[in-house]
Amino acid sequence: MNHIQDRIPLANGTAIPCVGFGTWKTPASQAAASVAAALAAGYRHIDTATAYHNEQAVGEAVAASGIPRGALFLTTKLWNPDQGYRSTLAACDRSLCALGTDYVDLYLIHWPHDPKYFDNWQEVNLETWRAFEALYQAGKVRAIGLSNFRPRHIENILRSCTVKPMVDQIEFHPGMAQQETVSFCRTHGMAVEGWSPLGSGRIFQVPEIQAMSEKYGRSVAQLCLRWALQHDVIPLPKSVTPARIAENARLFDFSLDEADMRTLDALTGCGWSGLDPDHLVY
Ligand SMILES: NC(=O)c1ccc[n+]([C@@H]2O[C@H](COP(=O)([O-])OP(=O)(O)OC[C@H]3O[C@@H](n4cnc5c(N)ncnc54)[C@H](OP(=O)(O)O)[C@@H]3O)[C@@H](O)[C@H]2O)c1
Repeated sequence: MNHIQDRIPLANGTAIPCVGFGTWKTPASQAAASVAAALAAGYRHIDTATAYHNEQAVGEAVAASGIPRGALFLTTKLWNPDQGYRSTLAACDRSLCALGTDYVDLYLIHWPHDPKYFDNWQEVNLETWRAFEALYQAGKVRAIGLSNFRPRHIENILRSCTVKPMVDQIEFHPGMAQQETVSFCRTHGMAVEGWSPLGSGRIFQVPEIQAMSEKYGRSVAQLCLRWALQHDVIPLPKSVTPARIAENARLFDFSLDEADMRTLDALTGCGWSGLDPDHLVY
């Protein structure tokens, strides 16, 4: 990858820009401005979700940008209480309406298991996936995937699906490399997206990365994002600050050497969100 708009092929023949722009915790009041800043800085891939309550503002920024729809890649996610066949179809329509578009490029099941809403996660995930396949066949979503699914959650889908998931979006940053899930995805032809690539801001005080930042003359954020790219993981940095949004896009004029990649791979215990797909209650 040499440019933020370069795309990685997905298993169904579509392709996804190698860096996305995150919008979790971006209030609707700031989402349009931050997405506009991201598009101006060159991002073409925007990551939102029903649960972020900012789909409408994201859609407004996209429309106002004047960038042709085909040059953009929009992802949204099905929220936990909407899992199930009919409720998924209805939730997708609500998201498309809020975003002001007749298709999204990627639709994800946000979490595999939320005991607050259901305990039979295997069955519910399969019903939801059946609806994802229907939405895909109808052209309302150009690619379908998962988020926060570990191998056993993915295996449950693979056993019965007619369309295989194309993506898994998981927490991914130094200290949280999730090797087992990443290699499972590779084996099954799924692209991996990395959420909280900056540990939601928790990664900035890690001394090993700070020392590396001085060596490369790049920020801690840039090093973490570059580390994800060199692992062929699509990072989704979030910021509402225009200078940081631009900084996080400047990732293609340096690379981490092998030894430093291994140093970052070996970090443990930093940056974790505390969120666990098997013990989530939202
Ligand atoms: N699928 C899921 O379950 C899931 C879960 C979490 C996140 N996500 C996705 O992944 C995206 C990114 O994760 P995240 O929002 O947790 O955060 P992140 O990108 O890891 O970190 C964002 C935080 O770092 C700050 N920041 C950003 N760039 C910086 C820079 N260059 N220098 C210093 N500080 C910087 C931001 O501050 P300011 O905004 O104040 O500038 C914000 O506080 C989300 O927005 C969402 O799209 C998905």
